[in-house]
Amino acid sequence: FEREDAKTARQRLLVVANRLPVSAVRKSEDSWSLEISGGGLVTALLGVKEFEARWIGWAGVNVPDEIGQKALTKALAEQRCIPVFLDEEIVHQYYNGYCNNILWPLFHYLGLPQEDRLATTRSFQSQFAAYKKANQMFADVVNEHYEDGDVVWCHDYHLMYLPKCLKKHNRSMKVGWFLHTPFPSSEIHRTLPSRSELLHSVLAADLVGFHTYDYARHFVSACTRILGLEGTPEGVEDQGRLTRVAAFPIGIDSERFIRALELPQVQEHMKDLKERFAGRKVMLGVDRLDMIKGIPQKILAFEKFLEENPAWRDKVVLLQIAVPTRTDVPEYQKLTSQVHEIVGRINGRFGTLTAVPIHHLDRSLNFHALCALYAVTDVALVTSLRDGMNLVSYEFVACQDAKKGVLILSEFAGAAQSLGAGAILVNPWNITEVAAAIDQALNMSPDEREKRHKHNFSHVTTHTAQQWAETFVSELNDTVVEAEIRTRD
Ligand code: ADP
Ligand code: G6P
Repeated sequence: FEREDAKTARQRLLVVANRLPVSAVRKSEDSWSLEISGGGLVTALLGVKEFEARWIGWAGVNVPDEIGQKALTKALAEQRCIPVFLDEEIVHQYYNGYCNNILWPLFHYLGLPQEDRLATTRSFQSQFAAYKKANQMFADVVNEHYEDGDVVWCHDYHLMYLPKCLKKHNRSMKVGWFLHTPFPSSEIHRTLPSRSELLHSVLAADLVGFHTYDYARHFVSACTRILGLEGTPEGVEDQGRLTRVAAFPIGIDSERFIRALELPQVQEHMKDLKERFAGRKVMLGVDRLDMIKGIPQKILAFEKFLEENPAWRDKVVLLQIAVPTRTDVPEYQKLTSQVHEIVGRINGRFGTLTAVPIHHLDRSLNFHALCALYAVTDVALVTSLRDGMNLVSYEFVACQDAKKGVLILSEFAGAAQSLGAGAILVNPWNITEVAAAIDQALNMSPDEREKRHKHNFSHVTTHTAQQWAETFVSELNDTVVEAEIRTRD
């Protein structure tokens, strides 16, 4: 995280995100092992190398005892990480409840929870109270570690209340906030009971960033329509104070993937995979097992393709690698059984004694295995129903310079705006359209594949995670921090 010659290197960066880049597993009373955490936020931030950064967040476990907390704090310090300890009840109400059962589906256009509509007001209120409490706990840790001149960069929907907590404590702190999900249309946001309080709180930041121009525009519209504030080309103005709002499309550390392909262990994996699937085209899906990823829709589209193209049945295989996520939230549990049921049915229908059309793995792959899989794939299927950006599509492109495979990409992923010209764009809800896209991808001429890949590869290798972070931090440095800031309850 260091670079001597950069303006940013002289200044410390405090990255605050719910999820630390490492998750802790307890080995004994006072010893812990740390594993890399999953998800796009961690992937992108780990690709940011050249800052003097500390990361503040939750290590993904409940640590009720002092001995455990001390030992974990020490282990994390070696990774430049600082833990926020959240107890089980807070995690249940804040993380499982308000973040992942309310904000996450709402921001991805899946609406507020339906089944307990009548109980929503009560459970909603207690979950929102826990959300604010948790955000204050993150703020307390930031305040404890903050030094004059630090830049504080808050991340994602878990921490929308954080800018306000930080500014309340220290008006001259430089605070940025970046959202890794879509920000929905203001008509969706306005259904959220705490809509105004969250918007006001985010506006306490000096710079607010989104993946795409559309998300930034939706945010500004929400502020103008719901709060009655003035939107300007620069951001949102509230009684003379401007909060800068802009788009900062994220990227990956593409070099890391390109270099990995040269490693002997990755080459070995590739050789094994090629032998295993010789004579068949490989289609690939890599996702967290999340309802926004459109995994059932993707599998049903593949079934339709097999139905309509009998000649392809023994010549193509779909590998769907779906790592379980947020498993304490009932919606996610339902999704797991739904996916298993569909895969079982299709394999029963089209499988033979020697081969099945879908290999579905409920787990995460290590980095080298993942790179090898990306590199041998003929067609990647990213069919998110909504997705902030989708870095899997970027990783696939980075690993395809030799093969020049085809990317089928949902038009509802942020990545459609950057990789749209090289990918085949689809509406993931339209299974017939996705089945036709599979047909088109499998039959695409080498010349066209090359042309499309070139466009995407050039984007992925030039719009990197490092460049994203430098642009955001440099713009945050350029904002003027008001000595006076109004905060609301
Ligand atoms: P999200 O942030 O919603 O999870 P992204 O596509 O932006 O979606 O990022 C997902 C990240 O998690 C990528 O870096 C991807 O490599 C990783 N990932 C997702 N599923 C798996 C898996 N099954 N095994 C290994 N890594 C995975
Ligand atoms: C998305 C979110 C991240 C989150 C990740 C994994 O990328 O934007 O904030 O960390 O999913 O989800 P989890 O709930 O395991 O942190």
